[in-house]
Amino acid sequence: MKADISFDTHIIQANILHIALNSSDGRVSFSDLGKMTGYDIIVIKENVKELMESGVGYAGRKYFNIPELPDLILPPVILEGLRSRFMGKRIFAYKTIGSTNDTARRLAESDSPEGTLIIAEKQTKGRGRLGRSWFSPQGKGLYFSLILRPRVAIERIPALSLVAAFSVCRVIESMTNLQPRIKWPNDCLIGGKKVAGMLIDISAELDRISYAILGVGLNINTAAKDFSSGLRKTATSLTIEANETFCRIKFLKAFFFEFENLYRNFCRYGLEFIAPELVKRSSVIGRKIGYKLGGKKYTGMALGYDENGGLRVKSKDGVKLLTGGEVTLKK
Ligand code: BTN
Repeated sequence: MKADISFDTHIIQANILHIALNSSDGRVSFSDLGKMTGYDIIVIKENVKELMESGVGYAGRKYFNIPELPDLILPPVILEGLRSRFMGKRIFAYKTIGSTNDTARRLAESDSPEGTLIIAEKQTKGRGRLGRSWFSPQGKGLYFSLILRPRVAIERIPALSLVAAFSVCRVIESMTNLQPRIKWPNDCLIGGKKVAGMLIDISAELDRISYAILGVGLNINTAAKDFSSGLRKTATSLTIEANETFCRIKFLKAFFFEFENLYRNFCRYGLEFIAPELVKRSSVIGRKIGYKLGGKKYTGMALGYDENGGLRVKSKDGVKLLTGGEVTLKK
């Protein structure tokens, strides 16, 4: 596993990509690149060479060409045209990794700033909630983690999962005709099947959160045949649902922009500001659900969220608050 940590190089290369992509024909001369960026021509040539070696664009003696941005998990490709202020601005990108959440934890311990992104084309030990694994095949989906340092009470963390799931839903809605729903506490579903999941790991001292790792897995171009027969019953992808192939990088950039905004509001105001929108997208609220408490099984009616992202459920013996675990939808 080799981390690419030359952050300045990422920015130089992203600038080169941005200029070329915004030229009329996706082509720009080295001398124009020099004039427009202020970088020395030697720096331009070195970076163009590196871009080409990583499969991004091509160059002749005088020009760099890039007809369109490739859908590759590479820092300059992610940074090019990124509109967020701090989410996804510092990038650790890998071809293969065990779990992005595990690497993110190590980086968070060594003081990496808020918004640092850890992302991979493939995970070999992708983790889900409740000890499950997350299927992360090469080049098909988005598997990433963000280091967050929210100044909120620990009880609020489940709500952060909802904010992230809500951001994923909004991005899917804006880029497809699909209508994802949030299944409490952390899943995004389409047609009742799971398309995305959030995993939050936290480290806290007394009542102060030193960091939270938000891990997001989103099945984008995963074909039905890529899933095992077991997973196929419960999991889906955007390509399966919409019957087209999507650019993962576009989803990623849109997510950072959307999530950054919502996250900042969430840290300031709590869940309140998106509460009606959350309820509208819920697949459980107003439905009969099954759940477990203290090892016993119950059924009840999901009423709504509390301010910490817990689920209020009305059962025979009164209203209860679920703060974790899993629910099943009943007919
Ligand atoms: C779940 O639905 O149970 C949560 C799934 C979270 C999967 C993502 S993929 C990127 C990040 N790294 C991991 O190991 N897991 C999360």
